[in-house]
Amino acid sequence: MVFRGTDTIALLTEWLMAELVLNQGVQYKLRYELDNVMSNHCVSDAELMKLPYLQAVIKETLRVHPPGPLLSWARLSTDNVHLNNGMVIPANTTAMVNMWAITHNSKIWERPHSFEPERFLLSAGGSNVDVRGSDLRLAPFGAGRRACPGMNLGMVTVSQLVAKLVYHYDWIQDMDRPVDLAEVLKLSCEMKEPLCAKVFSRNVVSATI
Ligand code: HEM
Repeated sequence: MVFRGTDTIALLTEWLMAELVLNQGVQYKLRYELDNVMSNHCVSDAELMKLPYLQAVIKETLRVHPPGPLLSWARLSTDNVHLNNGMVIPANTTAMVNMWAITHNSKIWERPHSFEPERFLLSAGGSNVDVRGSDLRLAPFGAGRRACPGMNLGMVTVSQLVAKLVYHYDWIQDMDRPVDLAEVLKLSCEMKEPLCAKVFSRNVVSATI
């Protein structure tokens, strides 16, 4: 429980910040939204509901970089399963759901390899896709009885972390160690090269992490 809840949140936050470093326009729009909503330099649960662009950025990161790309490692069919396309999965077959392949399928998503949070923003003509298991085009927490029990905690925690990181700091490329989006599949889908970026406090103090 502790492992599933820590590496996934850390990895999702790292992938998201990497995309913000590479997509400065997205970072700018997100900060604009935060500046208009955040009071007392922190974000309340009620204020999170007023941050549609933040939610769209998180959903787009879950789509492009799902931390658990193969959902559960294995499921066993207890009966013959007849799929819509005519294929049959025989009883007692071990099967995995490749969520990464679904979220990068060009028949389902336009420009699947491009980072475009607007696809989830109603005000930009996008659709408000539910990521909690009711829409199998994007089910990064799984679906059904074995879906992630920590999905709400995960979404709220990542929202809080990212809101603070973007509200307080500007994130830009460190040209000595440019962002590399190569993936490596361990227990979760990690950045092959951990994120390095230059970070400037919006109160002037600067640092490299
Ligand atoms: C962004 C954060 C998270 C992501 C992307 C994520 C993703 C997933 C995925 C894909 C699964 C497998 C679901 C399936 O096979 O259908 C899973 C299972 C699980 N997750 Fe999460 N998770 C996150 C956060 C958390 C948190 C915060 C906790 C606990 C505090 C947690 C606890 C678990 C547990 C215990 C399971 C196994 C459930 C079972 O086998 O019945 N996860 N998670």
